[in-house]
Amino acid sequence: MNIEFAIARDTREIPVSTPLKSLVTNLSCLLAFSLLSSVPFSYAQATLKPLPLPSIVQKDGRFALLVDGEPYLMLGAQVNNSSAWPATLSKVWPTAEHLGVNTLEVPIYWEQFEPEQGHFDPSFLRTLLTQARQHHVHLVLLWFGTWKNGSGHYTPSYIKLDEARAPHVIDAKGNKVDSLSPISEFALNADRTAFATLMRALKSADPQHTVLMVQVENEPGTYGSVRDHSTDAQRIFAGAVPATLLTVMHKQPGTWQQVFGTDADEFFHAWMVAHYIGQIAEAGKKEYALPLYVNVALRDPFNARPGSYESGGATDNVIPIWKAAAPAIDLICPDIYMPEYAKYVKVLDLYHRPDNAMFVPETGNSPAYARYFFAALGHQAFGFSPFGMDTTGYVNAPLGAARINDEALAPFALNYSIFGPMARIVAKLNFEGKLQAVSEDPEVHSQVLDFGAWKATVSYGLPQFGAGNPPGGNMTPDGGAMVAQLGPGEFLVTAVHARVDFEPAIQSPAKHRQFVRVEEGAYAGNAWHFERIWNGDQTDYGLNFTSVPQVLRVRLATY
Ligand code: DGJ
Repeated sequence: MNIEFAIARDTREIPVSTPLKSLVTNLSCLLAFSLLSSVPFSYAQATLKPLPLPSIVQKDGRFALLVDGEPYLMLGAQVNNSSAWPATLSKVWPTAEHLGVNTLEVPIYWEQFEPEQGHFDPSFLRTLLTQARQHHVHLVLLWFGTWKNGSGHYTPSYIKLDEARAPHVIDAKGNKVDSLSPISEFALNADRTAFATLMRALKSADPQHTVLMVQVENEPGTYGSVRDHSTDAQRIFAGAVPATLLTVMHKQPGTWQQVFGTDADEFFHAWMVAHYIGQIAEAGKKEYALPLYVNVALRDPFNARPGSYESGGATDNVIPIWKAAAPAIDLICPDIYMPEYAKYVKVLDLYHRPDNAMFVPETGNSPAYARYFFAALGHQAFGFSPFGMDTTGYVNAPLGAARINDEALAPFALNYSIFGPMARIVAKLNFEGKLQAVSEDPEVHSQVLDFGAWKATVSYGLPQFGAGNPPGGNMTPDGGAMVAQLGPGEFLVTAVHARVDFEPAIQSPAKHRQFVRVEEGAYAGNAWHFERIWNGDQTDYGLNFTSVPQVLRVRLATY
Protein backbone atom coordinates (compact mmCIF):
# COMPACT_ATOMS: atom_id res chain seq x y z
CA MET A 1 0.00 0.00 0.00
CA ASN A 2 1.38 3.37 -0.97
CA ILE A 3 0.35 5.95 1.59
CA GLU A 4 1.38 9.25 0.09
CA PHE A 5 1.60 11.17 3.32
CA ALA A 6 4.08 10.86 6.07
CA ILE A 7 2.33 10.42 9.40
CA ALA A 8 3.48 13.51 11.21
CA ARG A 9 4.72 13.54 14.76
CA ASP A 10 1.72 13.48 17.08
CA THR A 11 1.57 17.04 18.34
CA ARG A 12 -1.66 16.79 20.28
CA GLU A 13 -0.01 18.23 23.33
CA ILE A 14 0.38 21.62 21.68
CA PRO A 15 -2.73 23.60 22.58
CA VAL A 16 -3.13 25.26 19.19
CA SER A 17 -6.89 25.71 19.35
CA THR A 18 -7.02 26.60 23.01
CA PRO A 19 -8.93 29.85 23.40
CA LEU A 20 -6.64 32.84 23.50
CA LYS A 21 -6.94 33.31 27.24
CA SER A 22 -5.80 29.84 28.17
CA LEU A 23 -3.19 29.90 25.43
CA VAL A 24 -1.71 33.00 27.00
CA THR A 25 -1.88 31.35 30.41
CA ASN A 26 -0.15 28.28 29.08
CA LEU A 27 2.53 30.32 27.37
CA SER A 28 3.12 32.46 30.47
CA CYS A 29 3.48 29.34 32.61
CA LEU A 30 5.92 27.88 30.16
CA LEU A 31 7.86 31.09 29.97
CA ALA A 32 7.98 31.44 33.75
CA PHE A 33 9.09 27.84 34.05
CA SER A 34 11.83 28.28 31.48
CA LEU A 35 13.09 31.53 33.11
CA LEU A 36 13.13 30.06 36.60
CA SER A 37 14.86 26.90 35.58
CA SER A 38 17.12 28.59 32.98
CA VAL A 39 15.96 25.99 30.53
CA PRO A 40 15.38 27.54 27.09
CA PHE A 41 11.68 27.79 26.29
CA SER A 42 10.60 25.01 24.00
CA TYR A 43 7.33 23.25 23.33
CA ALA A 44 9.16 19.98 22.97
CA GLN A 45 10.16 20.09 26.61
CA ALA A 46 6.78 21.19 27.84
CA THR A 47 4.51 18.51 29.13
CA LEU A 48 1.10 20.05 28.80
CA LYS A 49 -2.10 18.17 29.36
CA PRO A 50 -3.39 16.82 26.04
CA LEU A 51 -6.60 18.44 24.90
CA PRO A 52 -9.49 16.07 25.51
CA LEU A 53 -10.92 14.58 22.34
CA PRO A 54 -14.40 15.67 21.33
CA SER A 55 -16.76 13.09 22.83
CA ILE A 56 -20.40 12.29 23.39
CA VAL A 57 -21.29 11.93 27.06
CA GLN A 58 -24.47 10.94 28.83
CA LYS A 59 -25.67 12.01 32.27
CA ASP A 60 -29.07 11.71 33.91
CA GLY A 61 -30.56 10.55 30.61
CA ARG A 62 -29.27 13.51 28.65
CA PHE A 63 -26.43 13.77 26.16
CA ALA A 64 -23.84 16.38 25.28
CA LEU A 65 -21.11 16.76 22.71
CA LEU A 66 -18.07 17.83 24.67
CA VAL A 67 -15.53 19.98 22.87
CA ASP A 68 -12.44 20.89 24.88
CA GLY A 69 -14.20 19.23 27.80
CA GLU A 70 -17.36 21.41 27.79
CA PRO A 71 -20.81 20.97 26.23
CA TYR A 72 -20.88 22.40 22.73
CA LEU A 73 -23.78 23.72 20.68
CA MET A 74 -23.16 23.16 17.01
CA LEU A 75 -24.47 26.02 14.89
CA GLY A 76 -23.90 24.18 11.67
CA ALA A 77 -24.36 24.12 7.93
CA GLN A 78 -23.61 21.52 5.29
CA VAL A 79 -22.12 22.35 1.93
CA ASN A 80 -23.43 20.96 -1.34
CA ASN A 81 -22.33 17.52 -2.43
CA SER A 82 -19.73 18.63 -4.98
CA SER A 83 -18.26 21.53 -3.02
CA ALA A 84 -15.42 19.70 -1.29
CA TRP A 85 -12.68 20.58 -3.75
CA PRO A 86 -9.88 23.11 -3.36
CA ALA A 87 -11.35 25.11 -6.25
CA THR A 88 -14.82 25.38 -4.69
CA LEU A 89 -13.95 26.24 -1.11
CA SER A 90 -13.93 29.94 -1.97
CA LYS A 91 -17.69 29.58 -2.62
CA VAL A 92 -18.20 27.96 0.74
CA TRP A 93 -16.63 30.27 3.31
CA PRO A 94 -18.60 33.47 2.53
CA THR A 95 -21.89 31.64 3.17
CA ALA A 96 -20.55 30.05 6.34
CA GLU A 97 -19.46 33.47 7.52
CA HIS A 98 -22.74 35.10 6.56
CA LEU A 99 -24.63 32.45 8.53
CA GLY A 100 -22.35 32.73 11.53
CA VAL A 101 -21.80 28.97 11.79
CA ASN A 102 -19.35 27.62 14.31
CA THR A 103 -19.12 24.27 12.51
CA LEU A 104 -19.22 23.28 8.86
CA GLU A 105 -20.05 19.83 7.51
CA VAL A 106 -17.95 18.91 4.49
CA PRO A 107 -17.73 15.63 2.57
CA ILE A 108 -14.59 13.61 2.02
CA TYR A 109 -15.11 11.54 -1.10
CA TRP A 110 -13.70 8.04 -1.21
CA GLU A 111 -12.88 8.49 -4.93
CA GLN A 112 -10.94 11.65 -4.05
CA PHE A 113 -9.13 10.18 -1.05
CA GLU A 114 -8.14 6.95 -2.82
CA PRO A 115 -7.80 7.95 -6.47
CA GLU A 116 -6.01 4.69 -7.24
CA GLN A 117 -6.29 1.48 -5.34
CA GLY A 118 -4.05 1.62 -2.26
CA HIS A 119 -2.87 5.16 -3.02
CA PHE A 120 -4.26 7.68 -0.54
CA ASP A 121 -4.26 11.41 -1.02
CA PRO A 122 -4.93 13.53 2.07
CA SER A 123 -4.15 16.83 0.35
CA PHE A 124 -7.76 18.04 0.30
CA LEU A 125 -8.12 17.17 3.97
CA ARG A 126 -5.10 19.31 4.75
CA THR A 127 -6.35 22.21 2.65
CA LEU A 128 -9.74 22.00 4.32
CA LEU A 129 -8.25 21.94 7.81
CA THR A 130 -6.05 24.94 7.08
CA GLN A 131 -8.90 26.99 5.65
CA ALA A 132 -11.34 26.01 8.41
CA ARG A 133 -8.84 27.20 11.00
CA GLN A 134 -8.35 30.45 9.09
CA HIS A 135 -12.12 30.94 9.21
CA HIS A 136 -12.36 29.92 12.89
CA VAL A 137 -14.84 27.14 12.34
CA HIS A 138 -14.87 23.54 13.42
CA LEU A 139 -15.62 20.77 10.95
CA VAL A 140 -17.67 17.63 10.71
CA LEU A 141 -16.37 15.33 7.98
CA LEU A 142 -18.78 13.25 5.93
CA TRP A 143 -17.32 10.02 4.56
CA PHE A 144 -18.95 9.43 1.20
CA GLY A 145 -17.99 5.77 0.79
CA THR A 146 -19.85 2.61 -0.17
CA TRP A 147 -23.15 4.43 0.22
CA LYS A 148 -24.08 7.97 -0.68
CA ASN A 149 -27.88 8.31 -0.73
CA GLY A 150 -27.98 4.54 -1.17
CA SER A 151 -25.69 4.32 -4.17
CA GLY A 152 -21.98 3.68 -4.72
CA HIS A 153 -21.38 6.77 -6.84
CA TYR A 154 -18.47 8.00 -4.71
CA THR A 155 -16.52 4.74 -4.74
CA PRO A 156 -13.21 4.77 -6.62
CA SER A 157 -13.28 3.31 -10.12
CA TYR A 158 -11.57 0.09 -9.01
CA ILE A 159 -14.73 -0.61 -6.99
CA LYS A 160 -17.19 0.71 -9.58
CA LEU A 161 -15.69 -1.42 -12.32
CA ASP A 162 -15.31 -4.66 -10.35
CA GLU A 163 -18.86 -5.91 -10.26
CA ALA A 164 -17.71 -9.45 -9.62
CA ARG A 165 -16.21 -8.51 -6.28
CA ALA A 166 -18.31 -5.43 -5.48
CA PRO A 167 -21.73 -6.51 -6.78
CA HIS A 168 -24.89 -4.48 -6.84
CA VAL A 169 -27.98 -5.35 -4.87
CA ILE A 170 -30.30 -7.62 -6.85
CA ASP A 171 -34.03 -7.01 -6.49
CA ALA A 172 -36.73 -9.67 -6.09
CA LYS A 173 -37.12 -9.89 -9.88
CA GLY A 174 -33.41 -10.45 -10.44
CA ASN A 175 -32.59 -6.91 -11.65
CA LYS A 176 -29.50 -4.98 -10.60
CA VAL A 177 -30.17 -1.97 -8.41
CA ASP A 178 -28.05 1.19 -8.14
CA SER A 179 -26.72 0.22 -4.72
CA LEU A 180 -23.79 -1.91 -3.63
CA SER A 181 -24.51 -5.12 -1.79
CA PRO A 182 -23.56 -5.20 1.88
CA ILE A 183 -22.43 -8.80 1.50
CA SER A 184 -19.32 -7.84 -0.48
CA GLU A 185 -16.25 -8.62 1.63
CA PHE A 186 -14.11 -6.95 -1.02
CA ALA A 187 -15.95 -3.62 -0.85
CA LEU A 188 -16.10 -3.83 2.94
CA ASN A 189 -12.35 -4.41 3.26
CA ALA A 190 -11.56 -1.63 0.80
CA ASP A 191 -13.89 0.89 2.47
CA ARG A 192 -12.66 -0.10 5.91
CA THR A 193 -9.03 0.37 4.90
CA ALA A 194 -9.72 3.72 3.28
CA PHE A 195 -11.75 5.00 6.22
CA ALA A 196 -9.19 3.84 8.77
CA THR A 197 -6.48 5.53 6.71
CA LEU A 198 -8.51 8.74 6.65
CA MET A 199 -8.92 8.66 10.42
CA ARG A 200 -5.19 8.04 10.87
CA ALA A 201 -4.38 10.94 8.59
CA LEU A 202 -6.85 13.12 10.46
CA LYS A 203 -5.41 12.27 13.83
CA SER A 204 -1.99 13.26 12.66
CA ALA A 205 -3.08 16.44 10.88
CA ASP A 206 -5.50 17.73 13.49
CA PRO A 207 -4.00 18.02 16.96
CA GLN A 208 -6.24 21.10 17.40
CA HIS A 209 -9.41 19.03 17.05
CA THR A 210 -10.75 21.24 14.32
CA VAL A 211 -12.78 18.19 13.32
CA LEU A 212 -15.37 17.32 15.95
CA MET A 213 -17.12 14.29 14.50
CA VAL A 214 -17.17 12.11 11.41
CA GLN A 215 -20.22 10.81 9.59
CA VAL A 216 -19.67 7.27 8.30
CA GLU A 217 -21.22 6.92 4.81
CA ASN A 218 -24.16 9.10 3.78
CA GLU A 219 -27.79 8.03 4.03
CA PRO A 220 -26.75 4.38 3.62
CA GLY A 221 -29.16 1.74 2.38
CA THR A 222 -30.91 0.96 -0.87
CA TYR A 223 -33.64 2.50 -2.97
CA GLY A 224 -35.47 0.19 -5.38
CA SER A 225 -35.30 -3.05 -3.41
CA VAL A 226 -36.00 -3.77 0.21
CA ARG A 227 -33.00 -6.11 0.34
CA ASP A 228 -30.45 -7.97 -1.72
CA HIS A 229 -31.79 -11.12 -3.41
CA SER A 230 -28.50 -12.31 -4.92
CA THR A 231 -27.64 -15.98 -4.49
CA ASP A 232 -25.23 -15.23 -1.65
CA ALA A 233 -27.71 -12.94 0.05
CA GLN A 234 -30.45 -15.58 -0.25
CA ARG A 235 -28.17 -18.08 1.47
CA ILE A 236 -27.56 -15.74 4.41
CA PHE A 237 -31.24 -14.80 4.55
CA ALA A 238 -32.17 -18.50 4.79
CA GLY A 239 -29.75 -18.91 7.72
CA ALA A 240 -30.16 -18.14 11.41
CA VAL A 241 -30.69 -14.65 12.80
CA PRO A 242 -27.51 -13.62 14.73
CA ALA A 243 -27.72 -14.21 18.46
CA THR A 244 -26.93 -10.56 19.31
CA LEU A 245 -29.97 -9.42 17.38
CA LEU A 246 -32.21 -12.07 18.94
CA THR A 247 -31.24 -10.83 22.38
CA VAL A 248 -31.90 -7.19 21.55
CA MET A 249 -35.22 -7.93 19.90
CA HIS A 250 -36.26 -10.48 22.55
CA LYS A 251 -36.78 -13.23 19.99
CA GLN A 252 -36.31 -16.99 19.85
CA PRO A 253 -33.82 -18.48 17.37
CA GLY A 254 -34.87 -19.15 13.79
CA THR A 255 -34.37 -17.98 10.22
CA TRP A 256 -35.03 -14.33 9.32
CA GLN A 257 -38.42 -15.25 7.94
CA GLN A 258 -39.35 -17.32 10.97
CA VAL A 259 -38.23 -14.72 13.48
CA PHE A 260 -39.38 -11.49 11.84
CA GLY A 261 -42.18 -12.54 9.44
CA THR A 262 -43.31 -9.64 7.25
CA ASP A 263 -40.48 -7.43 8.58
CA ALA A 264 -37.84 -10.01 7.67
CA ASP A 265 -36.65 -8.43 4.39
CA GLU A 266 -36.31 -4.97 5.86
CA PHE A 267 -34.74 -6.07 9.14
CA PHE A 268 -32.29 -8.30 7.26
CA HIS A 269 -31.10 -5.45 5.07
CA ALA A 270 -30.84 -3.08 8.03
CA TRP A 271 -28.72 -5.62 9.89
CA MET A 272 -26.47 -6.27 6.89
CA VAL A 273 -25.88 -2.58 6.12
CA ALA A 274 -25.42 -1.67 9.79
CA HIS A 275 -23.05 -4.57 10.39
CA TYR A 276 -20.96 -3.51 7.38
CA ILE A 277 -20.81 0.11 8.53
CA GLY A 278 -20.21 -0.92 12.13
CA GLN A 279 -17.01 -2.66 11.04
CA ILE A 280 -15.84 0.38 9.11
CA ALA A 281 -16.58 2.62 12.09
CA GLU A 282 -14.78 0.28 14.46
CA ALA A 283 -11.64 0.31 12.31
CA GLY A 284 -11.76 4.11 12.05
CA LYS A 285 -12.25 4.51 15.77
CA LYS A 286 -9.24 2.33 16.51
CA GLU A 287 -7.16 4.86 14.62
CA TYR A 288 -8.77 7.95 16.09
CA ALA A 289 -11.62 7.82 18.57
CA LEU A 290 -13.76 10.75 17.45
CA PRO A 291 -17.55 10.52 17.76
CA LEU A 292 -18.96 8.74 14.70
CA TYR A 293 -22.52 8.90 13.45
CA VAL A 294 -24.77 7.82 10.61
CA ASN A 295 -27.41 9.99 8.97
CA VAL A 296 -30.77 8.67 7.87
CA ALA A 297 -33.02 9.13 4.85
CA LEU A 298 -36.26 9.09 6.78
CA ARG A 299 -39.54 7.35 6.22
CA ASP A 300 -42.76 9.30 6.62
CA PRO A 301 -43.36 9.30 10.37
CA PHE A 302 -47.13 8.98 9.93
CA ASN A 303 -47.46 7.01 6.71
CA ALA A 304 -44.52 4.67 6.27
CA ARG A 305 -45.44 2.35 3.44
CA PRO A 306 -42.76 -0.35 3.01
CA GLY A 307 -41.02 0.19 -0.31
CA SER A 308 -41.71 3.92 -0.27
CA TYR A 309 -38.46 4.76 1.51
CA GLU A 310 -34.83 3.79 1.47
CA SER A 311 -34.32 0.38 3.07
CA GLY A 312 -31.33 -0.63 5.18
CA GLY A 313 -30.70 2.78 6.77
CA ALA A 314 -31.54 3.53 10.38
CA THR A 315 -35.19 4.44 9.85
CA ASP A 316 -37.16 4.77 13.07
CA ASN A 317 -38.40 1.15 12.97
CA VAL A 318 -34.89 -0.36 12.90
CA ILE A 319 -32.94 1.87 15.30
CA PRO A 320 -32.47 -1.02 17.82
CA ILE A 321 -31.12 -3.20 14.99
CA TRP A 322 -28.57 -0.53 14.11
CA LYS A 323 -27.58 -0.03 17.74
CA ALA A 324 -26.93 -3.78 18.07
CA ALA A 325 -25.18 -4.22 14.72
CA ALA A 326 -22.97 -1.13 14.80
CA PRO A 327 -21.89 -0.36 18.37
CA ALA A 328 -18.97 1.78 17.14
CA ILE A 329 -21.52 4.26 15.78
CA ASP A 330 -22.19 6.71 18.61
CA LEU A 331 -25.41 8.22 17.35
CA ILE A 332 -28.06 7.93 14.68
CA CYS A 333 -29.23 11.19 13.21
CA PRO A 334 -32.26 12.16 11.13
CA ASP A 335 -31.91 14.22 7.94
CA ILE A 336 -35.13 16.18 8.18
CA TYR A 337 -36.58 17.38 4.89
CA MET A 338 -40.19 17.63 6.03
CA PRO A 339 -41.33 21.23 6.38
CA GLU A 340 -44.64 20.31 8.04
CA TYR A 341 -44.63 21.01 11.77
CA ALA A 342 -46.30 17.75 12.85
CA LYS A 343 -43.88 15.62 10.83
CA TYR A 344 -40.80 17.54 11.83
CA VAL A 345 -41.55 17.34 15.53
CA LYS A 346 -42.58 13.68 15.26
CA VAL A 347 -39.20 12.86 13.71
CA LEU A 348 -37.45 14.70 16.54
CA ASP A 349 -39.54 12.66 19.00
CA LEU A 350 -38.59 9.39 17.27
CA TYR A 351 -34.83 9.99 17.35
CA HIS A 352 -34.74 11.60 20.80
CA ARG A 353 -34.29 8.37 22.73
CA PRO A 354 -32.59 7.37 25.94
CA ASP A 355 -30.03 5.44 23.86
CA ASN A 356 -29.40 8.13 21.25
CA ALA A 357 -27.84 11.58 21.38
CA MET A 358 -29.78 14.11 19.34
CA PHE A 359 -28.26 15.89 16.36
CA VAL A 360 -29.84 17.15 13.12
CA PRO A 361 -27.00 16.81 10.61
CA GLU A 362 -29.13 17.86 7.63
CA THR A 363 -32.28 19.82 7.22
CA GLY A 364 -33.86 21.93 4.50
CA ASN A 365 -32.44 25.38 3.84
CA SER A 366 -35.63 27.16 2.85
CA PRO A 367 -36.78 29.75 5.41
CA ALA A 368 -39.58 27.43 6.62
CA TYR A 369 -36.97 25.24 8.31
CA ALA A 370 -35.15 27.92 10.29
CA ARG A 371 -37.64 27.93 13.16
CA TYR A 372 -37.01 24.22 13.78
CA PHE A 373 -33.67 25.15 15.27
CA PHE A 374 -35.70 25.87 18.42
CA ALA A 375 -37.64 22.58 18.38
CA ALA A 376 -34.37 20.70 17.86
CA LEU A 377 -32.89 22.45 20.91
CA GLY A 378 -36.04 21.56 22.81
CA HIS A 379 -35.39 17.93 21.93
CA GLN A 380 -31.91 18.24 23.44
CA ALA A 381 -30.13 18.46 20.07
CA PHE A 382 -26.50 19.49 20.37
CA GLY A 383 -26.47 20.65 16.76
CA PHE A 384 -28.49 21.71 13.75
CA SER A 385 -27.30 21.98 10.18
CA PRO A 386 -29.22 23.19 7.12
CA PHE A 387 -28.04 21.58 3.89
CA GLY A 388 -26.71 23.10 0.68
CA MET A 389 -25.23 26.20 2.22
CA ASP A 390 -22.80 27.61 -0.32
CA THR A 391 -22.87 29.57 -3.55
CA THR A 392 -21.79 26.83 -5.95
CA GLY A 393 -25.19 27.23 -7.58
CA TYR A 394 -27.23 24.15 -6.75
CA VAL A 395 -30.83 24.27 -5.56
CA ASN A 396 -32.71 21.09 -4.69
CA ALA A 397 -36.15 22.47 -5.50
CA PRO A 398 -38.19 19.27 -4.90
CA LEU A 399 -36.85 19.19 -1.36
CA GLY A 400 -37.96 22.79 -0.93
CA ALA A 401 -34.43 24.17 -1.00
CA ALA A 402 -33.85 27.86 -1.44
CA ARG A 403 -31.64 29.78 -3.82
CA ILE A 404 -28.78 30.92 -1.63
CA ASN A 405 -29.02 34.65 -1.19
CA ASP A 406 -29.23 37.06 1.74
CA GLU A 407 -32.99 36.63 2.01
CA ALA A 408 -32.79 32.85 2.23
CA LEU A 409 -29.97 32.94 4.73
CA ALA A 410 -31.51 35.61 6.95
CA PRO A 411 -33.64 33.46 9.30
CA PHE A 412 -30.82 30.95 9.82
CA ALA A 413 -28.32 33.76 10.34
CA LEU A 414 -30.69 35.35 12.85
CA ASN A 415 -30.79 32.15 14.94
CA TYR A 416 -27.03 31.87 14.91
CA SER A 417 -26.53 35.54 15.73
CA ILE A 418 -28.70 35.05 18.81
CA PHE A 419 -27.12 31.79 19.90
CA GLY A 420 -23.51 32.24 18.75
CA PRO A 421 -22.33 34.34 21.71
CA MET A 422 -24.09 32.13 24.27
CA ALA A 423 -23.65 28.75 22.57
CA ARG A 424 -21.64 27.21 25.41
CA ILE A 425 -24.05 28.45 28.09
CA VAL A 426 -27.02 27.13 26.17
CA ALA A 427 -25.34 23.76 25.58
CA LYS A 428 -24.62 23.47 29.29
CA LEU A 429 -28.17 24.44 30.32
CA ASN A 430 -29.55 21.90 27.87
CA PHE A 431 -27.26 19.15 29.15
CA GLU A 432 -28.42 19.97 32.69
CA GLY A 433 -32.07 19.65 31.66
CA LYS A 434 -32.87 23.30 32.39
CA LEU A 435 -33.83 24.37 28.89
CA GLN A 436 -37.03 24.16 26.89
CA ALA A 437 -37.54 25.39 23.35
CA VAL A 438 -40.32 25.24 20.80
CA SER A 439 -41.11 26.16 17.21
CA GLU A 440 -44.31 27.64 15.89
CA ASP A 441 -47.07 25.17 15.14
CA PRO A 442 -49.36 26.79 12.55
CA GLU A 443 -52.36 24.97 14.04
CA VAL A 444 -51.81 26.12 17.62
CA HIS A 445 -50.80 29.69 18.34
CA SER A 446 -49.44 29.22 21.82
CA GLN A 447 -47.47 26.57 23.70
CA VAL A 448 -46.93 26.21 27.43
CA LEU A 449 -43.57 25.26 28.93
CA ASP A 450 -43.66 23.75 32.40
CA PHE A 451 -40.90 24.85 34.77
CA GLY A 452 -42.47 23.57 37.98
CA ALA A 453 -43.23 26.69 40.00
CA TRP A 454 -43.55 28.71 36.80
CA LYS A 455 -45.24 28.20 33.46
CA ALA A 456 -43.94 30.01 30.41
CA THR A 457 -46.40 30.64 27.60
CA VAL A 458 -45.06 31.20 24.11
CA SER A 459 -47.47 32.80 21.66
CA TYR A 460 -46.97 33.73 18.06
CA GLY A 461 -47.78 36.62 15.79
CA LEU A 462 -49.19 40.12 16.12
CA PRO A 463 -50.58 41.94 18.05
CA GLN A 464 -47.67 42.28 20.39
CA PHE A 465 -49.28 44.97 22.49
CA GLY A 466 -52.19 44.61 24.87
CA ALA A 467 -53.52 41.77 26.96
CA GLY A 468 -56.65 40.92 24.97
CA ASN A 469 -56.65 39.44 21.48
CA PRO A 470 -53.99 36.86 21.95
CA PRO A 471 -51.70 36.65 18.92
CA GLY A 472 -53.14 34.46 16.16
CA GLY A 473 -49.97 33.11 14.60
CA ASN A 474 -47.45 34.64 12.24
CA MET A 475 -48.45 35.16 8.59
CA THR A 476 -45.96 32.47 7.70
CA PRO A 477 -45.18 30.29 10.70
CA ASP A 478 -41.65 31.34 11.49
CA GLY A 479 -41.55 31.77 15.26
CA GLY A 480 -39.57 29.98 17.91
CA ALA A 481 -38.62 30.49 21.53
CA MET A 482 -36.22 29.25 24.18
CA VAL A 483 -36.58 29.54 27.93
CA ALA A 484 -33.98 28.21 30.35
CA GLN A 485 -34.03 28.22 34.12
CA LEU A 486 -31.04 30.00 35.68
CA GLY A 487 -32.25 29.87 39.30
CA PRO A 488 -35.48 30.02 41.31
CA GLY A 489 -37.65 32.52 39.45
CA GLU A 490 -34.78 33.41 37.08
CA PHE A 491 -34.80 32.63 33.40
CA LEU A 492 -32.80 33.15 30.24
CA VAL A 493 -35.20 33.94 27.41
CA THR A 494 -34.92 34.51 23.71
CA ALA A 495 -37.27 34.13 20.78
CA VAL A 496 -38.03 35.04 17.20
CA HIS A 497 -41.46 36.41 16.21
CA ALA A 498 -42.99 35.32 19.48
CA ARG A 499 -44.16 36.58 22.84
CA VAL A 500 -43.02 34.85 26.02
CA ASP A 501 -44.87 35.39 29.29
CA PHE A 502 -44.88 33.67 32.64
CA GLU A 503 -47.42 32.75 35.28
CA PRO A 504 -47.04 31.05 38.62
CA ALA A 505 -48.11 27.42 38.45
CA ILE A 506 -49.90 27.46 41.80
CA GLN A 507 -52.94 29.69 41.59
CA SER A 508 -54.58 29.29 44.99
CA PRO A 509 -54.63 31.81 46.41
CA ALA A 510 -54.62 33.73 43.13
CA LYS A 511 -51.23 35.10 42.32
CA HIS A 512 -49.88 37.19 39.49
CA ARG A 513 -46.48 37.34 37.98
CA GLN A 514 -44.48 40.45 38.19
CA PHE A 515 -41.24 41.19 36.45
CA VAL A 516 -38.79 42.24 39.13
CA ARG A 517 -36.17 42.92 36.51
CA VAL A 518 -35.83 42.16 32.82
CA GLU A 519 -32.33 42.73 31.54
CA GLU A 520 -31.35 42.71 27.91
CA GLY A 521 -27.73 41.88 27.38
CA ALA A 522 -25.32 39.43 25.86
CA TYR A 523 -23.03 36.67 26.98
CA ALA A 524 -19.36 36.69 26.17
CA GLY A 525 -18.13 33.32 27.31
CA ASN A 526 -19.65 32.84 30.77
CA ALA A 527 -19.90 36.56 31.51
CA TRP A 528 -23.19 38.39 31.11
CA HIS A 529 -22.94 41.94 29.81
CA PHE A 530 -25.86 44.14 30.78
CA GLU A 531 -27.19 46.51 28.11
CA ARG A 532 -30.53 47.85 29.32
CA ILE A 533 -33.66 47.10 31.33
CA TRP A 534 -36.88 46.30 29.51
CA ASN A 535 -40.02 47.80 31.00
CA GLY A 536 -43.26 49.50 29.95
CA ASP A 537 -44.52 48.43 26.52
CA GLN A 538 -41.67 45.96 26.29
CA THR A 539 -42.88 43.95 29.31
CA ASP A 540 -46.40 44.96 30.36
CA TYR A 541 -48.06 42.23 28.27
CA GLY A 542 -45.22 39.77 28.07
CA LEU A 543 -41.83 39.78 26.41
CA ASN A 544 -42.18 40.45 22.73
CA PHE A 545 -39.51 39.32 20.29
CA THR A 546 -39.27 40.33 16.65
CA SER A 547 -36.46 39.59 14.21
CA VAL A 548 -34.02 41.67 16.23
CA PRO A 549 -31.59 39.35 18.03
CA GLN A 550 -32.31 39.88 21.72
CA VAL A 551 -31.48 37.89 24.82
CA LEU A 552 -33.06 38.55 28.22
CA ARG A 553 -32.36 37.57 31.77
CA VAL A 554 -35.61 37.71 33.67
CA ARG A 555 -36.27 37.80 37.42
CA LEU A 556 -39.83 36.97 38.45
CA ALA A 557 -41.90 37.28 41.59
CA THR A 558 -45.61 37.16 42.44
CA TYR A 559 -47.96 39.65 43.99
C1 DGJ B 1 -29.75 14.14 1.57
C2 DGJ B 1 -28.33 13.76 1.33
O1 DGJ B 1 -27.75 13.26 2.51
C3 DGJ B 1 -27.53 14.94 0.81
O2 DGJ B 1 -26.22 14.54 0.54
C4 DGJ B 1 -28.20 15.50 -0.43
O3 DGJ B 1 -28.18 14.58 -1.46
C5 DGJ B 1 -29.63 15.90 -0.09
N1 DGJ B 1 -30.36 14.77 0.42
C6 DGJ B 1 -30.41 16.41 -1.28
O4 DGJ B 1 -29.90 17.58 -1.82
